[in-house]
Amino acid sequence: MSETLFEALRESHEIQRALMRKLMRSKVGQLRIDLFTQLRIELAAHEASEERYLYAQILMDDRGLDSSRDALADHHKMDIIVADLQTRDHAGRGWMQNVKKLSMELHDHLREEETIFFQLSGKILTNPQKIALAKKYRTDYTRMHKKLERDEDARSWFGHSSARKLWSVPDCLHGSASSCARSLVRSAQKDPTALEEIAARGECDVAHQPRDKSDREQERCRTQRHSVDGPRDCGGAHKHRPRAKDGSGGG
Ligand SMILES: [Fe+2]
Ligand SMILES: [Fe+2]
Repeated sequence: MSETLFEALRESHEIQRALMRKLMRSKVGQLRIDLFTQLRIELAAHEASEERYLYAQILMDDRGLDSSRDALADHHKMDIIVADLQTRDHAGRGWMQNVKKLSMELHDHLREEETIFFQLSGKILTNPQKIALAKKYRTDYTRMHKKLERDEDARSWFGHSSARKLWSVPDCLHGSASSCARSLVRSAQKDPTALEEIAARGECDVAHQPRDKSDREQERCRTQRHSVDGPRDCGGAHKHRPRAKDGSGGG
């Protein structure tokens, strides 16, 4: 028998409950930080995929409108508490009080979903839909997990003084801080001393070489597929290359 969407969702609910239980019992220290990070990633991945493959479907049916809105408001309420916890010292006064608040919100929300919302959704969705949505939810949930874990690595490395120093190198060609930091993470994972060595060299060239301004304009132009003769000429100082025959290439 194929898995239904509700079975897949309940599996993540159990992970959330277990992580919350461990977090509530944790003492000040790295384990507490790690548990909070795991819970934060689990909540965010589950919420995103649940909103896409359960709530978005049920919102389309009049019978599901009010309860979907309530549940989405719960998600938002929990996100605010999580964001607040992230900005505070986990050893500080009041941090665990906020975790308790999150725990109450979370347990109420999961109970409501499992005992009320899933029953209602079960009447709205057909059996083939429940199975098809389970597959889509699983794929998206796994992808979100990986993405959030990568972002977490990048964030923690970006906080490293060497990573900050590298990021200030002016000609870094990476498009965003997180992609640059991810390269640093990969490099540092292969060799823990790499980050310091790269910082000492003073170039952010983990996966690339610094390029000059016109190179970057060419790259941007290619990416946006500006037309030489069209209205969206990129205005770069470089020479445009001729457009490819199929109209897709060219600078
Ligand atoms: Fe859920
Ligand atoms: Fe939920």
